[in-house]
Amino acid sequence: MTELGAKLAMVSVPGTIVYLDGDLGAGKTTLVRGFLRSQGYSGAVKSPTFTVVEPYTLDNNKFYNYNELEDDLKLDGDNNSVTHSISNKNTESDREQIESQVQRVYHFDLYRLEDPEELEYIGIRDYLDGHAIALVEWPEKGYGVLPQADLIIKITHQKQGRKVELQSHSEVGTVIVSKLVSNERNKSSI
Ligand SMILES: Nc1ncnc2c1ncn2[C@@H]1O[C@H](COP(=O)(O)OP(=O)(O)OP(=O)(O)O)[C@@H](O)[C@H]1O
Ligand SMILES: [Mg+2]
Repeated sequence: MTELGAKLAMVSVPGTIVYLDGDLGAGKTTLVRGFLRSQGYSGAVKSPTFTVVEPYTLDNNKFYNYNELEDDLKLDGDNNSVTHSISNKNTESDREQIESQVQRVYHFDLYRLEDPEELEYIGIRDYLDGHAIALVEWPEKGYGVLPQADLIIKITHQKQGRKVELQSHSEVGTVIVSKLVSNERNKSSI
Protein backbone atom coordinates (compact mmCIF):
# COMPACT_ATOMS: atom_id res chain seq x y z
CA MET A 1 0.00 0.00 0.00
CA THR A 2 2.94 2.28 0.74
CA GLU A 3 4.41 1.50 -2.66
CA LEU A 4 1.10 2.12 -4.41
CA GLY A 5 0.86 5.48 -2.64
CA ALA A 6 4.34 6.40 -3.86
CA LYS A 7 3.47 5.39 -7.42
CA LEU A 8 0.26 7.37 -7.26
CA ALA A 9 2.25 10.45 -6.21
CA MET A 10 4.45 10.08 -9.28
CA VAL A 11 1.53 10.17 -11.70
CA SER A 12 -0.84 12.57 -9.94
CA VAL A 13 -1.24 16.11 -11.22
CA PRO A 14 -2.39 19.24 -9.40
CA GLY A 15 -6.15 19.05 -8.93
CA THR A 16 -6.32 15.24 -8.85
CA ILE A 17 -9.07 13.94 -6.56
CA VAL A 18 -8.70 10.38 -5.32
CA TYR A 19 -11.31 8.50 -3.31
CA LEU A 20 -9.91 5.76 -1.08
CA ASP A 21 -12.66 3.24 -0.62
CA GLY A 22 -12.24 0.42 1.90
CA ASP A 23 -13.35 -0.90 5.28
CA LEU A 24 -11.84 0.03 8.62
CA GLY A 25 -8.19 -0.96 8.58
CA ALA A 26 -8.11 -1.60 4.83
CA GLY A 27 -4.94 0.44 4.35
CA LYS A 28 -6.20 3.82 3.16
CA THR A 29 -4.04 5.86 5.51
CA THR A 30 -1.07 3.60 4.77
CA LEU A 31 -1.43 4.53 1.09
CA VAL A 32 -1.58 8.25 1.95
CA ARG A 33 1.54 7.86 4.11
CA GLY A 34 3.35 6.23 1.20
CA PHE A 35 2.25 9.06 -1.08
CA LEU A 36 3.55 11.78 1.24
CA ARG A 37 6.75 10.00 2.31
CA SER A 38 7.73 9.44 -1.32
CA GLN A 39 7.58 13.21 -1.79
CA GLY A 40 9.93 13.89 1.08
CA TYR A 41 7.46 14.40 3.92
CA SER A 42 8.91 12.75 7.02
CA GLY A 43 6.42 13.66 9.75
CA ALA A 44 3.57 11.58 11.12
CA VAL A 45 0.64 10.73 8.84
CA LYS A 46 -2.53 9.70 10.67
CA SER A 47 -6.19 9.58 9.71
CA PRO A 48 -7.65 13.01 10.50
CA THR A 49 -10.73 11.30 11.92
CA PHE A 50 -11.66 14.15 14.28
CA THR A 51 -10.36 17.10 12.31
CA VAL A 52 -11.74 15.82 8.94
CA VAL A 53 -8.85 17.23 6.94
CA GLU A 54 -5.08 17.38 7.31
CA PRO A 55 -3.22 19.76 4.99
CA TYR A 56 0.28 19.06 3.64
CA THR A 57 2.52 21.22 1.54
CA LEU A 58 5.17 19.62 -0.61
CA ASP A 59 7.81 21.89 -1.99
CA ASN A 60 10.12 19.53 -3.83
CA ASN A 61 7.63 19.30 -6.65
CA LYS A 62 8.10 15.88 -8.14
CA PHE A 63 4.62 15.57 -9.53
CA TYR A 64 3.98 14.65 -13.11
CA ASN A 65 4.05 17.69 -15.34
CA TYR A 66 1.24 19.12 -17.41
CA ASN A 67 2.95 18.91 -20.77
CA GLU A 68 3.54 15.19 -20.52
CA LEU A 69 -0.01 14.62 -19.31
CA GLU A 70 -1.49 16.61 -22.17
CA ASP A 71 0.62 14.66 -24.63
CA ASP A 72 -0.94 11.55 -23.19
CA LEU A 73 -4.41 13.02 -23.51
CA LYS A 74 -3.57 14.08 -27.07
CA LEU A 75 -4.91 17.53 -26.46
CA ASP A 76 -4.44 20.46 -28.74
CA GLY A 77 -5.13 24.14 -28.17
CA ASP A 78 -8.71 24.00 -29.48
CA ASN A 79 -9.78 20.89 -27.69
CA ASN A 80 -12.35 21.75 -25.05
CA SER A 81 -13.44 18.24 -24.32
CA VAL A 82 -11.42 17.83 -21.16
CA THR A 83 -13.29 19.55 -18.40
CA HIS A 84 -10.73 18.87 -15.70
CA SER A 85 -9.48 22.08 -14.19
CA ILE A 86 -5.92 21.68 -15.40
CA SER A 87 -7.02 21.95 -18.99
CA ASN A 88 -8.27 25.47 -18.28
CA LYS A 89 -4.74 26.44 -17.39
CA ASN A 90 -3.47 26.28 -20.87
CA THR A 91 -1.43 29.40 -21.24
CA GLU A 92 2.29 29.21 -20.69
CA SER A 93 2.22 31.80 -17.92
CA ASP A 94 -0.59 29.99 -16.09
CA ARG A 95 1.38 26.79 -16.26
CA GLU A 96 4.56 28.38 -15.03
CA GLN A 97 2.77 30.05 -12.19
CA ILE A 98 1.10 26.84 -11.05
CA GLU A 99 4.15 24.67 -11.51
CA SER A 100 6.30 27.04 -9.49
CA GLN A 101 3.87 26.95 -6.62
CA VAL A 102 4.28 24.47 -3.86
CA GLN A 103 1.92 21.52 -4.15
CA ARG A 104 -0.84 21.30 -1.57
CA VAL A 105 -2.15 17.86 -0.68
CA TYR A 106 -5.22 17.41 1.52
CA HIS A 107 -5.86 14.17 3.34
CA PHE A 108 -9.54 13.91 4.21
CA ASP A 109 -11.15 11.39 6.54
CA LEU A 110 -14.92 11.80 6.40
CA TYR A 111 -15.71 8.88 8.71
CA ARG A 112 -17.24 11.04 11.44
CA LEU A 113 -19.17 13.33 9.14
CA GLU A 114 -22.87 13.18 10.01
CA ASP A 115 -24.04 15.13 6.99
CA PRO A 116 -22.27 15.90 3.71
CA GLU A 117 -23.29 19.55 4.23
CA GLU A 118 -20.64 19.75 6.96
CA LEU A 119 -18.13 19.85 4.13
CA GLU A 120 -19.55 23.21 3.12
CA TYR A 121 -18.91 24.54 6.63
CA ILE A 122 -15.28 23.50 6.56
CA GLY A 123 -14.89 25.27 3.22
CA ILE A 124 -14.39 22.29 0.90
CA ARG A 125 -14.50 24.57 -2.16
CA ASP A 126 -11.56 26.58 -0.89
CA TYR A 127 -9.55 23.43 -0.29
CA LEU A 128 -10.36 21.85 -3.64
CA ASP A 129 -9.66 24.79 -5.89
CA GLY A 130 -8.41 22.78 -8.85
CA HIS A 131 -4.74 22.95 -7.81
CA ALA A 132 -4.65 20.92 -4.62
CA ILE A 133 -4.52 17.13 -4.66
CA ALA A 134 -7.13 15.45 -2.44
CA LEU A 135 -6.88 11.95 -1.00
CA VAL A 136 -10.22 11.11 0.62
CA GLU A 137 -11.01 8.32 3.08
CA TRP A 138 -14.72 7.46 3.53
CA PRO A 139 -15.80 9.55 0.52
CA GLU A 140 -19.35 8.13 0.64
CA LYS A 141 -19.97 10.26 3.76
CA GLY A 142 -19.54 13.35 1.61
CA TYR A 143 -21.77 12.21 -1.22
CA GLY A 144 -23.45 15.11 -3.00
CA VAL A 145 -21.05 17.77 -1.75
CA LEU A 146 -17.64 16.22 -2.30
CA PRO A 147 -16.43 16.89 -5.86
CA GLN A 148 -16.32 13.89 -8.20
CA ALA A 149 -13.23 11.71 -8.12
CA ASP A 150 -10.75 11.39 -10.95
CA LEU A 151 -9.78 8.05 -9.53
CA ILE A 152 -11.33 5.63 -7.05
CA ILE A 153 -9.07 3.14 -5.32
CA LYS A 154 -11.08 0.29 -3.81
CA ILE A 155 -9.18 -1.71 -1.22
CA THR A 156 -10.45 -5.03 0.14
CA HIS A 157 -9.01 -7.32 2.78
CA GLN A 158 -7.62 -10.64 1.59
CA LYS A 159 -6.39 -13.54 3.70
CA GLN A 160 -2.94 -12.16 3.09
CA GLY A 161 -2.48 -8.57 2.04
CA ARG A 162 -5.07 -6.56 0.17
CA LYS A 163 -6.82 -6.50 -3.18
CA VAL A 164 -6.82 -3.15 -4.97
CA GLU A 165 -9.14 -2.04 -7.79
CA LEU A 166 -8.48 1.16 -9.71
CA GLN A 167 -11.43 2.95 -11.33
CA SER A 168 -11.00 6.06 -13.43
CA HIS A 169 -13.79 8.63 -13.48
CA SER A 170 -12.27 11.31 -15.69
CA GLU A 171 -9.82 11.55 -18.56
CA VAL A 172 -7.10 12.50 -16.10
CA GLY A 173 -8.08 9.47 -14.02
CA THR A 174 -7.80 7.26 -17.09
CA VAL A 175 -4.26 8.45 -17.74
CA ILE A 176 -3.33 7.92 -14.10
CA VAL A 177 -4.71 4.37 -14.10
CA SER A 178 -2.93 3.48 -17.34
CA LYS A 179 0.33 4.85 -15.95
CA LEU A 180 -0.06 2.87 -12.73
CA VAL A 181 -0.89 -0.31 -14.63
CA SER A 182 1.88 0.04 -17.20
CA ASN A 183 4.39 0.76 -14.42
CA GLU A 184 3.25 -2.48 -12.84
CA ARG A 185 3.73 -4.48 -16.02
CA ASN A 186 7.21 -3.10 -16.45
CA LYS A 187 8.38 -3.20 -12.87
CA SER A 188 7.64 -5.06 -9.65
CA SER A 189 4.21 -6.21 -8.58
CA ILE A 190 2.22 -4.90 -5.65
N1 LIG B 1 -1.31 -4.53 2.20
C1 LIG B 1 -1.33 -4.69 3.53
N2 LIG B 1 -1.06 -5.88 4.07
C2 LIG B 1 -1.09 -6.05 5.40
N3 LIG B 1 -1.38 -5.08 6.30
C3 LIG B 1 -1.66 -3.87 5.82
C4 LIG B 1 -1.66 -3.61 4.41
N4 LIG B 1 -1.99 -2.31 4.24
C5 LIG B 1 -2.17 -1.79 5.46
N5 LIG B 1 -1.99 -2.71 6.41
C6 LIG B 1 -2.11 -2.52 7.87
O1 LIG B 1 -3.47 -2.37 8.21
C7 LIG B 1 -3.60 -1.51 9.33
C8 LIG B 1 -4.62 -0.46 9.08
O2 LIG B 1 -4.16 0.37 8.03
P1 LIG B 1 -4.68 1.85 7.83
O3 LIG B 1 -4.65 2.62 9.08
O4 LIG B 1 -3.93 2.38 6.67
O5 LIG B 1 -6.19 1.58 7.43
P2 LIG B 1 -7.37 2.59 7.05
O6 LIG B 1 -8.00 2.03 5.84
O7 LIG B 1 -6.84 3.97 6.97
O8 LIG B 1 -8.36 2.45 8.27
P3 LIG B 1 -9.44 3.50 8.86
O9 LIG B 1 -10.67 3.40 8.01
O10 LIG B 1 -9.69 2.98 10.25
O11 LIG B 1 -8.83 4.87 8.85
C9 LIG B 1 -2.20 -0.95 9.61
O12 LIG B 1 -1.65 -1.65 10.71
C10 LIG B 1 -1.45 -1.24 8.35
O13 LIG B 1 -0.07 -1.41 8.58
MG1 LIG C 1 -7.40 5.75 7.88
